[in-house]
Amino acid sequence: MKIFSIPPIALAAAVIALTAGCASTCKSKASLSIEQIMEDGFKGKESLSARISKGQGNEADFKKMAFLTKELALNKPSKGDLSSWTEKTTALQAASESLVAGKPGALDGFKTAVNCKACHSVHKGD
Ligand code: HEC
Repeated sequence: MKIFSIPPIALAAAVIALTAGCASTCKSKASLSIEQIMEDGFKGKESLSARISKGQGNEADFKKMAFLTKELALNKPSKGDLSSWTEKTTALQAASESLVAGKPGALDGFKTAVNCKACHSVHKGD
């Protein structure tokens, strides 16, 4: 009698799908490129990040930022150390999650973590 009628290939796919759900230490792939994320959330004076830093963000903005920074952390920069990248992007993601959760001091934390120049000087190619 066969208890498991699930074909091994389907099982393997399920395992891959499960492991893809975890943090940036896993080899899950980002669905947005760094460029797309920068364009979508960071570029310009009226960007999502600019509005949040000015204290003008609402809950939907925070959630979008949490999503974008999670995607950012899943990317790999073409320049600079991966450990430095992981440190910066996970700090940024954590700060965005704190905004979503409405934690005290979350805005200051975000403003510190969203330092464009600190990240670009190390990770942005010419
Ligand atoms: C955690 C790191 C990080 C932070 C923080 C960050 N950036 Fe970037 N940004 C990058 C990287 C890496 C690139 C290069 C992307 C590439 O070309 O692959 C980039 C590229 C860009 C680009 C060029 C995108 C394009 O169209 O080619 C703009 C504009 C930009 N960033 C704006 C900003 C602004 C404004 C801020 C701050 C409010 C910011 N970024 C914060 C990492 C960061």
